[in-house]
Parts: sequence; structure tokens; C-alpha cells
Amino acid sequence: MRNNQYEYSQHHIPEQPHNHESQVPIMMRIISKKDLSPDVRFFQTVPTTDYRYENLNYKPGQFMSLSISGSGEAPFSITSSPTRKGIIEFAIRKVGKFTEKLFTLKDGDLLGLRGPFGNGFDVEKFLGKDIIIIAGGLGAAPLRSLLLYILDNKEQFGRLIYLYGSRNVEEILYKGDFFELLSSDQIELYISVDENNKGFEDKIHRGRVTELFSKIGKINPDNTVAAICGPPIMYKFVVQELLKLNMNKNDIFLSLERRMKCGVGKCGHCIIDYVYTCVNGPVFTYWDVLRMQDLI
Ligand code: FES
Repeated sequence: MRNNQYEYSQHHIPEQPHNHESQVPIMMRIISKKDLSPDVRFFQTVPTTDYRYENLNYKPGQFMSLSISGSGEAPFSITSSPTRKGIIEFAIRKVGKFTEKLFTLKDGDLLGLRGPFGNGFDVEKFLGKDIIIIAGGLGAAPLRSLLLYILDNKEQFGRLIYLYGSRNVEEILYKGDFFELLSSDQIELYISVDENNKGFEDKIHRGRVTELFSKIGKINPDNTVAAICGPPIMYKFVVQELLKLNMNKNDIFLSLERRMKCGVGKCGHCIIDYVYTCVNGPVFTYWDVLRMQDLI
């Protein structure tokens, strides 16, 4: 069990991980991009010369390190699914110098790519289970990888429930795709916005994402797993709702990416209670989280 994996000694500094295979950047070409919200852009990339990445196997919830020649490197979660080979996609928020530079890139421009890094979601544990995905804001980016993975293998899973909370309608990522899924019988999808839902009352609930739990009816807590990613404030309240449904703490998976800088266990920026969230995470069970102070 992952929650038994760490030694919580006050004097123990974790060993830095090495993955030489992943340290060599692969050049990727941007083949398309579009704005998902006022400050989040979607990038589709394909390998240029090294076709190893055409068969790249990664897990939903893992991330890659993107680099631009002369402008540095930063980690970003993968938003595409390993079930759709050959194309790797990212949804990136413009928040600093590196991402500002990324936003100037055009179709055909090159990016360096290293990875995949982190543990990702252990989808083997999800097989045969009902699944509740809860996304807040940009959390819909890594969770899109999991969502597509499950939709592409739907016969291997039970109910698929997706609750997505956004601040407002403009910031809903993949809005067109989500609106299309609202009429699908493959998924029970509910969307909420904190602010005005004017014009979308039939599709979007106005209120907190936690209010969407009232719409999902009864669940079988012994055969359900939950995956959560969103702003830090969201985790506590969403977990409370899941615990009210009698879910097991080991069946609640949280993707915690917010403290990452280097993404590969070098800078120490993401260490919490002597755990590298970039290497040991970013996905933790709620049981793991209870053992780590300040994780959420
Ligand atoms: S050690 Fe740098 S982000 Fe984890």
C-alpha cells in the first residue's frame, strides 16, 4: 500500500530519484493549439525525430517537463490519454515568464519534452469500480486524461460520475466537449459555476461544486473510487462529501500538483513532510494525506 511506503523521520532527507531514460529531452512539434479560457491554452504536440514517443506509455495523472530552447523548462500535467497514441496534449495557464513564452509559440514550433514523471492514477485499482471524478478549475486538465482513458475503456468500469466546478462560464475548460457529454449515456456529468450561469441554466448549476453531490443519488461506497484535482480550498470540502457517502479513505485519490517547480526531485520545492510530491505523487490517497501535515 502506498500509505506505508514513507518513513516519517524528522531527520530523514529523501533520496533524490533518477530516471536517466526520462532525462533526455525529445523534440515535439506543436500541431495545433486553442484557447480553452481567457488564460488557459491547449497545445497538441507530436514527436519530430524520435518516434519512441509515438508509443509512449504514460498513466493519467502523470506529467512531463516542457522546455523551450533558451527559455528554460517547467513541469505540466498531461491532458491527453494514453489510449490515444501519438499525440501528447497539455492545457497550460499563463502564469509567469516561461508560460508567457509558451503562449508566443506557433504551430510548427518545437518544444523539448522529458518524462513522463510522477506516479499518476493507478487505473488498475479502478477496474470494475464505479468512479466519481471531481474537478475544480484547471484540475480538469489532468483529469481529462483519466476521463478519456475511462471513456475509451468504458466496458471495464462501472458508473462514471463527473462533477466539475468552475468560477464562471468563461473559465470552464473543454466547454464544448463537456456540453456534448451532457447528453451521453456513458457518463453522469454535472457542472457548476460559482458566479453567473445566465444563458446556461439548463446545463450548469449555479453554486459550489460540493452542491452537485446532491444530484448523484446513492452510491455503493465499497465499489467506488474517487479522483479529485482542483484548487487547494476545494479538497477539504469535497473529501467531506465523499466521507459522508461512507467512502473508504484509500479509495479517494487526490492529485496535488501545485507546489511543483522542477518536477523531478531536484529543487526540493515540493517537499512536504519529507515526501516529494513530484516523485512520490502527485496522486495520493486521502489516507496518505492524513499522514502528511499541510498537504491540503
Ligand atoms: S523536487 Fe522540484 S518539484 Fe519536486
